[in-house]
Parts: sequence; structure tokens; C-alpha cells
Amino acid sequence: MHAWQFDHYGHYSENLHWVERPTPTPGFGEALVRTRAVSLNFPDLLIVQGMYQHKAPLPAVPGVEGVGVVEAVGPGSKFKVGDRAVGFCHGGGTLADCFLVHNNSAWTVPGHVTDEQAAALSVTYGTSYFGLHHRAHLQAGETLLVLGAAGGVGLAAIQLGKLMGATVIACAGDAAKLEVCRLNGADHLVNYKDEDLIERVKDITGGEGANVIYDPVGGDFFDKVKRCVAWDGRIVIIGFAAGRIPSIETNRILLKNMAVVGLAWGQYLDRGSRLPEEAQFRFYDMLARRQIDPVIYRTLPFDQTHEGLRIIESREVYGKVVITR
Ligand SMILES: NC(=O)c1ccc[n+]([C@@H]2O[C@H](COP(=O)([O-])OP(=O)(O)OC[C@H]3O[C@@H](n4cnc5c(N)ncnc54)[C@H](OP(=O)(O)O)[C@@H]3O)[C@@H](O)[C@H]2O)c1
Repeated sequence: MHAWQFDHYGHYSENLHWVERPTPTPGFGEALVRTRAVSLNFPDLLIVQGMYQHKAPLPAVPGVEGVGVVEAVGPGSKFKVGDRAVGFCHGGGTLADCFLVHNNSAWTVPGHVTDEQAAALSVTYGTSYFGLHHRAHLQAGETLLVLGAAGGVGLAAIQLGKLMGATVIACAGDAAKLEVCRLNGADHLVNYKDEDLIERVKDITGGEGANVIYDPVGGDFFDKVKRCVAWDGRIVIIGFAAGRIPSIETNRILLKNMAVVGLAWGQYLDRGSRLPEEAQFRFYDMLARRQIDPVIYRTLPFDQTHEGLRIIESREVYGKVVITR
């Protein structure tokens, strides 16, 4: 088979090449999927640089989620040949003709879900649902502030936050991205590059602060929003797109009766939890009812994978970039 492979860590523009490599053989509980669509994620940029928490042995293939048709199954696989399946591969591997999925982190895809939708919603909606529901316990009537709100996980958080009955404050870096947030249900929009984030949140919340803060960005933005949490509020740490891992004073946590919680969605899969699969089928129902709608910024053919990564790296993207065969 062929795959986008890198044999040393570096920038995708110089280390990622379309090469021939052996087709993997499914082991126990695994299936081999012939690729139809792969959604790119921010971690793909980190994987090729060796900066992601999971490092596959070199030479390696990026791509953490993908959809396709099962071509072969290993012993104990829950799939059969011909099933359409979507899978999450923590260490990468989906940017290839074929990739392996494991029972714990792959699901069949119902007929009403397109390849592109299935590829676009596993990681983003999984992350945002587990962050908001399981970790932050977001309640109807609460205020949810979303940083990086026009990104992949950010838009999913807006849509799910609205479904859960929250008032959503979306924070993004330009007017076009904020308009996308508005179209996806955000009640209040803050341009966190041009506006005083702390003052705007105080104004919007009557001085109280937001009940839940969803943070996939970190860095300087975290330093600001940690001052905008309501009494009994929760900050959910999702990621560090800004690059710097920030910190928080414990007296601030005490004085606001605040909780700072982390969410690593992939851990639920790695530990064999049934919850992600249940959530996935709930997302498919929500999609059928038009309650959620994964935003796909661009669909590109496989030979334009570099362009897809460039779109994410340049921050021009809102929602998802999907690569199709
Ligand atoms: N914890 C988990 O389980 C989990 C799962 C999935 C993703 N993540 C993490 O969540 C973060 C966001 O992922 P995503 O897929 O939503 O990415 P994305 O689509 O690229 O969105 C990231 C957003 O962050 C904002 N941002 C601020 N500073 C940035 C910078 N220096 N570089 C790039 N973006 C910056 C951008 O919005 P503006 O341009 O509007 O500022 C962008 O829209 C990543 O760190 C990722 O690793 C975590």
C-alpha cells in the first residue's frame, strides 16, 4: 500500500512523503480498513514533529481518525469484511491506503452519515461532549465560554453547549471566524485579539464570570480567562494550541470554589471504556435530527494532504479539513 510517511521528525513540508510501505496485518481485536476519508487534526502537525504525547516508531504515518471499508479482520474483531467503519488511531496511521482499527476505538457508520461527516465528528464531538458533560458537568442555564471557538473542537463545543441549554460566549481571533460561531449558535461573540476579554466577559455575565470555560488554546488566553470564572465554576483543559502550557494559582481556585479539570478523550478509548461508543451513536442520532452539523471547511484529495496541513497550521481553517480518496 501507499501512505504519507515520515522517517524523521520535522516540518511536514520537508519530511512527509507518499511512499510504498507494507500493508499492516490485523491482530487480535483489530480490522484493516481501506481508507475513504481522513479528517486532519491539530495533533497531526505535532505528530510529524515528534511533539505529540504518542510517538509511533519511525518511519511513521500521521492521521488520527479515518473512515473506510473493512477489508480484513483479525481474531476477535467486532467487524466483518465490508462494514463501513470509523476509527481513532492515537499514534497516527490513517493517512494511508489502509489503516488498522481496534475494537475499543472504532465504530460502524450508519448509512445516513457520509464519509466526510463520520471522519469529521469522532474526535471533535467526542472531546467536546466528554469535556462539557463528563468533566465540567455543564448544566442548562449556565454560561459556557469557548476559546478557539471556530476551531474543530471549539465549534463542536458551541453546538453541544447550546443543546445542553447553556448560554455560549464564543472567543475567536477574527470577524469571519466569529460569524461562523454565530451561525453555529453562539449567543455572544468576543474577538480575543482586539477586545478586552476580561471586561467583555464581565459585561456579558453581569460581573459574575462564566460557569464553564472550555480551553483548547492555553497560553495568554488562559491567563485571562482564569480571571473570568464564576463562583463554583469549572475550567476544562483541552489543549494548548497557542503553544505555551499555562499555570494557575491555587488560592484563585480556593477563593472561587473553582474546579480545574482535564480532559484527554483518547484515554477513554485506550482504557476500553464503553462510553465513547455510546456517545458516538448518540452523535449519529443528533446528526439525523439535525441537532449537530460538523463544519467542514475544505475537502481535499489525498494528494493535497500538505495543503490540508498548511490550512490548519496557518490558522485559516474553521471547523475541519477532510482528505478523501
Ligand atoms: N484533550 C483532548 O482529548 C483533545 C482532543 C482533540 C484536540 N485537542 C487539542 O485541542 C486543541 C485544538 O484542536 P482543534 O482540532 O480544534 O484545532 P484547530 O481546529 O486548529 O483550532 C485551534 C484554534 O485555536 C486557536 N489558536 C489560538 N492560538 C493559536 C496558535 N498559536 N496556533 C493555532 N491555533 C491557535 C485558533 O483560533 P483563532 O485563530 O481564532 O485564535 C484555532 O481556531 C489542540 O491543542 C488539540 O491538540 C485535545
